[in-house]
Amino acid sequence: MIEAILFDMDGVLIDSEEYISAAAIAYFKSLGVETKPEDYIPFVGAGENRYIGGVAEKYGVELEIEQAKLDTYAIYEELIMGNEGALEGVVRFINNAHAAGISMAIATSADRRKMEINLQAMNLDPAWFTVLINGKDIERKKPFPDIYEKAARELGKKQSECVVFEDATNGVEAAKAAGSLCGGLTTSFSGEELRAKGADFIITGLNDFPDFASIEEFNRLLKVFLAREVALETRRQAYTPYSHFKVGAAIISQEGHIYKGCNVENSSYGATICAERGAVMAAVAQEGEAFVIEHVVVVADSSTPAPPCAICLQVLSEFATEESRFTLFNLEGKREDYLFKELLPLPFRL
Ligand code: THU
Repeated sequence: MIEAILFDMDGVLIDSEEYISAAAIAYFKSLGVETKPEDYIPFVGAGENRYIGGVAEKYGVELEIEQAKLDTYAIYEELIMGNEGALEGVVRFINNAHAAGISMAIATSADRRKMEINLQAMNLDPAWFTVLINGKDIERKKPFPDIYEKAARELGKKQSECVVFEDATNGVEAAKAAGSLCGGLTTSFSGEELRAKGADFIITGLNDFPDFASIEEFNRLLKVFLAREVALETRRQAYTPYSHFKVGAAIISQEGHIYKGCNVENSSYGATICAERGAVMAAVAQEGEAFVIEHVVVVADSSTPAPPCAICLQVLSEFATEESRFTLFNLEGKREDYLFKELLPLPFRL
């Protein structure tokens, strides 16, 4: 059970990457050095000393780093204040988490000064975060796990009870090395890049979370994102020489296991096996007649997410309850949520 959330800040709660690189470019320009936005990319998420210092090294500029950072933050504050609030859905998500009694920490490699400017720019109450850790509090920066180990320790939670939200590959590496569940946000890197570093699930931002009111509900939402990863991966295996329409399904059983399936076609359309039925077969092969469907997650590449066909509904109804949940995604992450009873044709409900 996940009981705590550890947030990276830049790119997760606020999108300040653009402002800090503009501030750094303006700072170097004041020294007569022309730098480019691409110069900063290798140092995203690696701490402010490297962010400014790494680029200074590249251009052979000698800096007094503490003063250089303060000068850069002064420009940054001017650029960001009043321009950039929290990212979409962040305030709603944090309100939900706070009301649900979930402990929260911010674990950022940024300096305290920049963290303070950001919290103010987002209008977030620092008191809602039981633990605030900045780059100065830790010796070894991300991708080392130290910052997330310290955050979990200070919250009094086991590492496995924490989910980390990260947008940088260095940060995902740190979260996974620490042993936490990690959600990757595609603010700065692609889903593929984040997955390659071990992100357990991918979202575009915290706004992808529907509202939740309890820790249990939050955990169910996390499980749906994990199941979506399984469905996405399985979807790639689909055998669809006739329709070229690939579907992946992941079924979460009441036992808590995830079973996967993809569609398998043949030259007779009626004999096609849909992704959902493939997942049911896998679940029954494993759990036998004790198998009960908790949640079915389907990913299809139609613009409107695809609901299960009539034959699938018939097969699913052997193992589902009317309250079993269905979440249908398209490839862009567009989402529809149903209860099984809402998808059943009338004869099944009588
Ligand atoms: N398909 C599924 O696998 N699941 C659904 O929910 C909808 C349809 C498959 C069957 C066929 O291979 C292709 O999608 C086009 O209908």
